[in-house]
Amino acid sequence: MSLLKVDNLNLQFRTDEGLITAVENVSFEIGAGEVLGLVGGSGSGKSVTAKSLMQLNPSNSVYSPESSIKLELEEGGVDVLSLKNPRELVIVRGGAVSMIFQEPMASFAPALTIGYQMVEQLLIHTSMSKRAAASLSVEMLERVGISDAGKRFHQYAFELSGGMRQRAMIAMALSTKPKVLIADEPTTALDVTIQAQVLDLMKDLVKEFGMAILFITHDLGVIAQVADRVAVMYLGRIVESGPVREVLHSPSHPYTKGLLNALPKLDALDEPLTPIPGDIPSPLERPPGCVFHTRCPEVLADRCDSSIPQRTNVGKDHSVSCFAVDSTGKTA
Ligand SMILES: Nc1ncnc2c1ncn2[C@@H]1O[C@H](COP(=O)(O)OP(=O)(O)O)[C@@H](O)[C@H]1O
Ligand SMILES: [Mg+2]
Repeated sequence: MSLLKVDNLNLQFRTDEGLITAVENVSFEIGAGEVLGLVGGSGSGKSVTAKSLMQLNPSNSVYSPESSIKLELEEGGVDVLSLKNPRELVIVRGGAVSMIFQEPMASFAPALTIGYQMVEQLLIHTSMSKRAAASLSVEMLERVGISDAGKRFHQYAFELSGGMRQRAMIAMALSTKPKVLIADEPTTALDVTIQAQVLDLMKDLVKEFGMAILFITHDLGVIAQVADRVAVMYLGRIVESGPVREVLHSPSHPYTKGLLNALPKLDALDEPLTPIPGDIPSPLERPPGCVFHTRCPEVLADRCDSSIPQRTNVGKDHSVSCFAVDSTGKTA
């Protein structure tokens, strides 16, 4: 059963230049113990989708009435977008839902020790005593591989190295045992060895805690390493989604194919890379029809610039929104 169910999420921002569509008809589900990778170029709407799950978008954001985000918790269902005041929102802000960011400095207040902040968070979200919260915090720091956890507990974020800060942030996010963890480019700023350690750690913890993880990255290599399923986003829409191996080995959508062709192949390092031609259109000049048609090598002259392709299944739990793809997942 899914823990998190997003249905028809539509999000716009009011700006001086007019309404910007950032997310359009986005739907996905994540089950317990499952990692959904959300991948796409910059500006595709990954971060604002994640922020919607915690209602963290600024006040110029507008959700369409049919947008729905539901959490299925043991205590009952939660309709996230209908939560109003800070007391109700606690459940999605560090309670049942927790988030880790690319820049861990942003997650810790500079003038408070790591330990103080971890304990404070536990006191807000659980009924633990201060003493129990402190010992759990040290234990979580140990779990994420921070040596001398007892000492680190009393230090400030700036006293830790980048990799250690990232681990401390993960420890803090996981200490309240969230049901849903959102990780927005959590390893992008790390060097590759530490990145691999952090990814392994997250994979272990997901299974152990039975969490659902939304893992956001622009890096398909990272997706291949951590995700069970992947959703590919372009200009606010999910264009393809499915089991990670299937999507990476037999991509159907021209955008997914383009992302994969732009990666260096280990068995053909001398071959030139083929980037996706053209630029991402400005959100103020959103293409009509299929949002990818202005850059698509498979564009169909009679349809793609005027109609929006519906989601079609091309395999078990594998769907694609593209007029050029038939039900076998191939382009004509
Ligand atoms: N507060 C905001 N006001 C106006 N536009 C925004 C705001 N936040 C994000 N956007 C726009 O929404 C789109 C999606 O942004 P984002 O989710 O950050 O992309 P990604 O994380 O995929 O790189 C972008 O076009 C961005 O400029
Ligand atoms: Mg982002």
